[in-house]
Parts: sequence; structure tokens; C-alpha cells
Amino acid sequence: MARKAKTASTTPGKKTVAKPKKAAAPMFENAVTARIVAVQDDIVTIEALTGEDGKAARLVKNEVIYICPTRSADAGVQERLKAEILRVRRRTADAQVYESTVGVGVGDPVEQSGEMLSVTLGPGLLGQVYDGLQNPLEKLAASHGVFLPRGIELDALNRKRKWAFTPAVKTGASVAAGDCLGTVQEGRFAHKIMVPFGWLGDQSGDWEVVWIQEGSFTIEDRVARLRDRSGQERSIGLAQRWPVRRALDAELMRGGRAERLYPEEPLVTTIRLIDTFFPIARGGTGCIPGPFGAGKTVLQGLISRYSAVDIVIVVACGERAGEVVETITEFPNLVDPTSGGPLMDRTIIICNTSSMPVAAREASIYTGITLGEYYRQMGYDVLLIADSTSRWAQAMRETSGRLEEIPGEEAFPAYLDSAVKGIYERAGVIRTSDKSVGSLTMIGTVSPAGGNFEEPVTQSTLATVKTFLGLSAERAYKRFYPSVDPLISWSRYLDQLQGWYESNMEADWTARVQDMQALLQAGEGVLQMMQVTGEEGVTLEDFVTYQKALFLDMVYLQQDAFDAVDVSAPLDRQRLTFGKVHRIVTQDYDFADKDEVRDHFTRLTGLFKNFNYAAPDSPDYVSLLKQIDDLAAAKRAIAA
Ligand SMILES: Nc1ncnc2c1ncn2[C@@H]1O[C@H](COP(=O)(O)OP(=O)(O)O)[C@@H](O)[C@H]1O
Ligand SMILES: [Mg+2]
Repeated sequence: MARKAKTASTTPGKKTVAKPKKAAAPMFENAVTARIVAVQDDIVTIEALTGEDGKAARLVKNEVIYICPTRSADAGVQERLKAEILRVRRRTADAQVYESTVGVGVGDPVEQSGEMLSVTLGPGLLGQVYDGLQNPLEKLAASHGVFLPRGIELDALNRKRKWAFTPAVKTGASVAAGDCLGTVQEGRFAHKIMVPFGWLGDQSGDWEVVWIQEGSFTIEDRVARLRDRSGQERSIGLAQRWPVRRALDAELMRGGRAERLYPEEPLVTTIRLIDTFFPIARGGTGCIPGPFGAGKTVLQGLISRYSAVDIVIVVACGERAGEVVETITEFPNLVDPTSGGPLMDRTIIICNTSSMPVAAREASIYTGITLGEYYRQMGYDVLLIADSTSRWAQAMRETSGRLEEIPGEEAFPAYLDSAVKGIYERAGVIRTSDKSVGSLTMIGTVSPAGGNFEEPVTQSTLATVKTFLGLSAERAYKRFYPSVDPLISWSRYLDQLQGWYESNMEADWTARVQDMQALLQAGEGVLQMMQVTGEEGVTLEDFVTYQKALFLDMVYLQQDAFDAVDVSAPLDRQRLTFGKVHRIVTQDYDFADKDEVRDHFTRLTGLFKNFNYAAPDSPDYVSLLKQIDDLAAAKRAIAA
């Protein structure tokens, strides 16, 4: 059998640069080892052929296979349709096809690739727009829209571009899987060239560097050669492959070459409501469920733009075809607020529209995570945004249905929970063998039909993630943005990171934030009462509570994404603003009647909003702060 031996081979891709190329003669690239016995939509059943030695080819779960339809109209050119084996039963297996299966029929030959569904990892990933199988879409999107002709695979990385490689180790050095051999400069980032993550070498895991060279190379060139103790030698280029469904650091952890750390600090998003009230840890997990139109995509965009991370990976499984096109066309025009350069310089977009084959959509999230893990392994802070994971789960449901698996709730597969868990588990902070620390933070949106959070995908996600930012249609309707409902949202990190807040924000930060959450609940209680009895039906004290809660919401939770200053509130500004707001809503007042209460808080709200719009170096900033302090003091109860 002419099958490639290793999963993590060093050969980066098989075909030529960016130019769509159909596999012409020879007709089959690998030996034909199986044939199609049944086709149902994008699921095919294949049967292993018996070889000359009388043995059937071995079919392996998650192996990539190529179907070579014999009935295609396009005579002379053999199409090769990529598929992945999902379930093996002795000599037959079911596979999901990442293409349209029109014209595929019983008897069609199948090649096995010998590789699990994998991505190419190397310099040049940043700035790319890929589909779920790592075909670069950017260039095609301009001319063809986001549709690739069937059976086309493109190189994930440019094979001609040269990179200046600077070795970090010398001949004779001892290295192991994941160790850095040297770097190339990828835009602003030092891109580590690492010993392939699956190369365990001999039992000690060590390799000796027998040759390494400095200079300018393409990903096709070899830059180093390693030898293990048994004398086995292998050469290394600038790129390597990794199977997307396996955690990239799985082998490294087992070999003690990488270590998981607890997230210890928040991911600063500069969105007040998140950072102060419902924080997400750097290396942690969060989800944003919300009904259609509530603002999930806009919020994800703000987070990806302003968060303090090195690299952002956007996995866009669009709800509408147009939405993904918007992502691809708008993102490249955005400016990175930290570097002043294009945001795309530190971004990779993986996108799938709902019109792409279901299976490719299902794979895209794993592709995104693997790319994120790769940069984390270099010691970078990576943020992965998946919008929306409901589309991913639906793809899984469709496939599961076609495989006739036993369905769980709402026809999602019974393993939905573990699949969701399996995704978010790949987030985290790691320390690598050279003591660099990198993180992968994962935030996924969920789009439950009708905004019903009781449905299975939302529930499975809530059981896994540690921050829940629940969007409310009602708040979006009132244009209270970001429309995160503070009464249902939560974050486990507020407690977990208490130590960090105490040393970096204020001594009693967590307790104060919890006070404010209690105020919001109390204010809601009064509002409910007023809806029944009217304003007259509540006491002056209750009315003050309500006005305080409304004030907190208006000036702190809400943030104007269209104002150049307010769009992003750095942490030190949050500390200052929160301190003032907290003082204002915790002090006692001397009000004569409800009109006076309303008038007071309306004026304070106006001043505060203007303060939120004032740049820190503007004259307004200082003068508004003084006006706020004066006004806040004016009605303070003397006895307090
Ligand atoms: N933070 C915001 N500030 C202002 N407008 C917003 C904000 N978030 C959402 N919107 C408005 O709501 C619309 C829908 O938001 P979007 O993020 O596309 O919703 P979803 O992804 O939940 O369907 C946007 O086009 C925009 O007009
Ligand atoms: Mg959206």
C-alpha cells in the first residue's frame, strides 16, 4: 500500500501555490484501497479492497480519504473529493464528504491519505482567510464570492515566499518535540520554528541536532536535521502538519514538555460590562448566547479588536451567507488599536457560510483551535472567537442524523455535551519547555432559535464555560448596548481572580462588584413593582434604589461602540469610573420627593455620559469630573 507513514509528516502540502489546480494525470495520487458501496447526501459508505497479499486495507477513524468519481462529466480530469472517515465497521466505514457528492456512485474508487484531517502550521498563517479545511479564500472571495469549485485544494501557505531563519540552537544540541530550533519574523511576531509536536524520538524523547543552517528559506526547504539515539535521522522545514481533532500539546504534556497553568489574570477587553462585571480570564472560556439581531457579532467584533492579546482567530460560521462576506470584507479595513497597523496583521479568519457543505462547517472550529494552539505554543496570547457555535452543532446534528445515530434532545447527538466540552477544553494557559507562557482564550456565540436559552446547545455550553454573557432582545430593542443582560449573566472568574483584582484594582474589588450586582437586582425588583402600582406605589427609598440602578446601567454597563473614546475603556479608567459610580450609588441622600430624585440622577447621568466621551487629555475630562463630584456631594445626607 502506498500510504504515507506518519501523521505529523514534515511535508507541508501537496500542491502548488494559490493557483487552482485539478489533479490531472496520473489519475490517482495514492493507491486505490477502497471503493464506494453507498451514498447518502454527503455521507458515503466505503469498503476496503483486498490487496495482492490477500489482506484488506485498514480503515481508520478520522483518516482523510479521497473519492475519485468515475461518472464526472469533466472528461480527462479526475476530480478528487476530500472526505473523512467517521465510523469504522471492520471492512466498511462511513465517511463525511467535504464537497457536493453529486455524481458520486457505487463502485467509485477511494484513496486513503494515511493522514488524519490536518492543517499546515508555519509562517504566513497570519492575515489569511481560510475555509474550514484551510483553503485560502481571500483571493477567491474577490472574484468568485466564497464558493470554491468542487475538488479543489489550495496550498494553505505560500510555497515560494522566503523567510529569514535564525537558528536558536547549534549543531550538537539536544532537543525534544516542541522545542524551539530558531525563529523567522512574521510581521510583528517572532515565529518559532519548533521540533514537530508529535516527534517523540527514542524513549528519552531527545534528538540531537546534526545540522542546522541560517538563511532565507521557503517552507519547502530543509533547515535542520535531527538524529535520535537509535540513529534515526529526520529533517525539518519551516512548516509542519497537525491533526486538527487532537490537542496540539497532547503529546507534549504527556512527555512533560509542556505544562498547564491556571488562568491567573483577566483578559482585558476594555468593555466595562465584561471586565468589571463578567470577566473572562486570559486562557479561559466564555459564551455569548443571544437571539438573532441582539448584537452577538458586533460584540464579538469589539472583543476581537480591543482585547489585550497578540493574535486573534475568528471562526465565522455565518448565520446568513452575507454575514461572512461582511466579515471578510470589513475586517481587512479595520485598524488595530494597539499597533495602529491593519488588524489583519494579527488575525486569521476561518469562514464558512451556511451554503458550504455541512461537514466543512463542522471541521472549521477544529481548524481554528489548532491554529490558535500553534501560536500559543510560541508563547503568544491568542483569542479564538467562534460565531456561531450553533451552526457548528447543527452541522454535527445533520451528520449524526445521516449516520442514524441515536438522537438526544432536539435530535442533537447524545454526545453533544462531550463535543462542546472537547472544544472549550482546548483553551488554557500553558508553559512550554523553554518556560514561555502562552494562552488560548475561547469565546463562542450561541444563537438559540427564538432566544430560548433552554435549548441543548446553550445548555451544554453553559455547563462548560466559565463566563456567560447572555444577550437580551429587550435590551437590544431599547438600544442598551452591549445588550448583555446583567441580571442573568455570570462569571466564575470574578471569584477565581479575586487575588488579581485585589492587587491590581482595589482591595475589595470583588465585593464591590457584587454589591453593584445586588443593586441591579434590587432596582429590577422596584421596577417590576412600579409596573403594577405605578411610581406612587413605591416608597421614596425604593425609588432611589431604582434610580441608582438605572444610573449604574446607563453610565457604566452601557458603552457606545460608535464613540471613539467610549468604545474602549482601559482598566485604569474603569477603576476610576467604577470608584465614582460606586460611591454615588452607595451614599445616602436627602431627597424631598421623587421628582428631585429623578432630576438628580438624570443630571448625573448626563454629566457622566459626557465624561465617558471625554479623552483623558481633554480639558472636558477634568472639568466634568469636578462637576460630577460637586453634584454628587450636593444631595448627600448630612448625617451620613
Ligand atoms: N454595541 C452596539 N452598538 C450599536 N449598535 C449595535 C451594537 N450591537 C448591535 N448593534 C446593532 O444591532 C444589529 C445586529 O447586531 P448583530 O451583532 O449582527 O446581531 P447578532 O449577531 O446577534 O444577530 C447591528 O447591525 C447594529 O445595528
Ligand atoms: Mg451574528
